[in-house]
Amino acid sequence: MFKRYRRLRKNYAIRSMVRETVLNEEDFVYPLFIVEGNNIKKEIKSLPGNFHWSVDRLDELVEDIVRAGVKGVIIFGIPNYKDDVGSGAYDDEGIVQKAVREIKRIAPDIWVITDVCMCEYTSHGHCGIVIDNSVDNDETLKYIAKIALSHAQSGADMVAPSDMMDGRVGAIRSILDENGYKDVSIMAYSAKYASAFYGPFREAADCCPEFGDRKSYQMDPANSREAMLEIQEDIDEGADIVMIKPALPYLDIIKMTRDKFDNPIAAYSVSGEFAMIKAAAALGVIDEKAIVLESLTSIKRAGADIIITYHAIDVARWIRRD
Ligand code: PBG
Repeated sequence: MFKRYRRLRKNYAIRSMVRETVLNEEDFVYPLFIVEGNNIKKEIKSLPGNFHWSVDRLDELVEDIVRAGVKGVIIFGIPNYKDDVGSGAYDDEGIVQKAVREIKRIAPDIWVITDVCMCEYTSHGHCGIVIDNSVDNDETLKYIAKIALSHAQSGADMVAPSDMMDGRVGAIRSILDENGYKDVSIMAYSAKYASAFYGPFREAADCCPEFGDRKSYQMDPANSREAMLEIQEDIDEGADIVMIKPALPYLDIIKMTRDKFDNPIAAYSVSGEFAMIKAAAALGVIDEKAIVLESLTSIKRAGADIIITYHAIDVARWIRRD
């Protein structure tokens, strides 16, 4: 006699009772792009429905986020001025620093994460200090630590290094602790792949490398065991949360991480994942809402606790139950 699994799929009531994975609005973190200037809310062409915001317009966005029930944001800055060492990234009056202070003023309970990287701030567009045409790991660490400290000083709850230098989590933990920011946590982009799925973001954040690519620091998409080594190292150096990025093409990595580690896991569903869905929806060949919900459920089912997504506000509105 075969078993009848269809009995538990008979109607919505029973399906919802036996459902293993349920999305909540608290699962999502929304990425923000902050630009200099005043009164700017400009749609990002490559990320429809997402905008470049100037700090003075943030109250409008923060209100939407709070109302949707999204609890966290991750901030990216797009400065006007760039130089070889990305000095704008650790300027107390930099746009990320100003944005953090402003968001905390408007809504102190929003969990504010800052992306700690240099690529938006360097004239060459690389995520570190370039010496002899290559990104120097140990020289970069000094800057990454300084940037993280500056974000903590402006009030960030959590810093998220995305540069993929070796040793950066430890360097950040030390500088934060030495300066009295023991409670500021670290979400490490631990398994960050050298992915073509970042294309729309690089346009949005103006951070395309001027020469070469990021393959000497971001991971090879062909590798999974190496991701476990990266994650182990970040946890050993003091990461509170580990991140896998991108998400949907890397569900196996999320699942491996879930099976092996007990730390909370974040998955970054990146710009290319978002843009593909939007493009297909615009062509009328998919049902956007259904595809987004299925994709995000899959990411959570694989093992992610937190999902960073450009759909965050929309999804939170769709699923909010209260
Ligand atoms: C900065 C950074 C990138 C993304 C997040 N932080 C770009 C990159 O590494 O090239 C990509 C995010 C996305 O595609 O949505 N280093």
